[in-house]
Amino acid sequence: MSNICVIGSSSMDLVVTSQKRPKAGETVLGDSFKTVPGGKGANQAVAAARLGAEVHMIGCVGDDHYGKAILANLKANDVLTDYVEPVTDTESGTAHIVLADGDNSIIVVKGANDHVTPEYVERALPAIERADIVMIQQEIPEDTVDYVSRLCKTLGTPLLLNPAPARPLSKATIENAAYITPNEHEASVLFQGLSREEALQRFPEKLFITEGKNGVRFHNGTEERLIPSFPVKAVDTTGAGDTFNAGLAVALSEGGDIESALRFANRAASLSVLKFGAQGGMPKRAEVERALS
Ligand code: RIB
Repeated sequence: MSNICVIGSSSMDLVVTSQKRPKAGETVLGDSFKTVPGGKGANQAVAAARLGAEVHMIGCVGDDHYGKAILANLKANDVLTDYVEPVTDTESGTAHIVLADGDNSIIVVKGANDHVTPEYVERALPAIERADIVMIQQEIPEDTVDYVSRLCKTLGTPLLLNPAPARPLSKATIENAAYITPNEHEASVLFQGLSREEALQRFPEKLFITEGKNGVRFHNGTEERLIPSFPVKAVDTTGAGDTFNAGLAVALSEGGDIESALRFANRAASLSVLKFGAQGGMPKRAEVERALS
């Protein structure tokens, strides 16, 4: 069993489903409203645990009822939460999601996730030192991402950086990460001035650009490769990227080669979209293996 440390956000997703996405200044009537656990960090932690890894989450919640529910959900999914702390007088992170026209749009209010500072992460060093791979995303402060990238480089532990939501990264952080997994929009923010082909070629076997239904693209040092995704009828694509990242981290930390790891990650992500909610459809290891065989 591999050991994965996820440093990132844990939030509550407030999800409205609607036939129509309102334009600016417009009011529309929605169909339903649900509150489900989310946050890119927590999603990746839960997905990795369901895929069979031992997972430590490093994050912060608010001292509100969402915070208690987020923590209980992590524990119910066998994620180790010794380093998930409630922050006094602070609200939990929330994601305000509209599901319409078969896709989502999301506004994230970071709340307690802003307290995942370099100093906070430093206190969790024992969990980081034990990890086979560390995962991080960008719903926490920028200097924490930079700090963790340096720390992982010093420890010699591979860092899987999922640069979502999009924001520019320093050259050093890009160099320090072992794997970077932007979608097409995030890649265009990270590698301004480079075409997709040039960026992939510059970072062989390190940069994986996800293209939704199309699959994931990378360069193997000789040529560009597209690993196709598995066609499914999606119910809710929220959390598919998180499941992909977790699948990739689990497979790589178990010593899998890159193409097999990407196929495993694609398979896990394709199963995750079959149910409502970021974590609702995240598959267990056996389901992915069954689907792959
Ligand atoms: O990646 C999906 C997640 O992004 C949602 O669960 C929501 O919390 C947002 O942060």
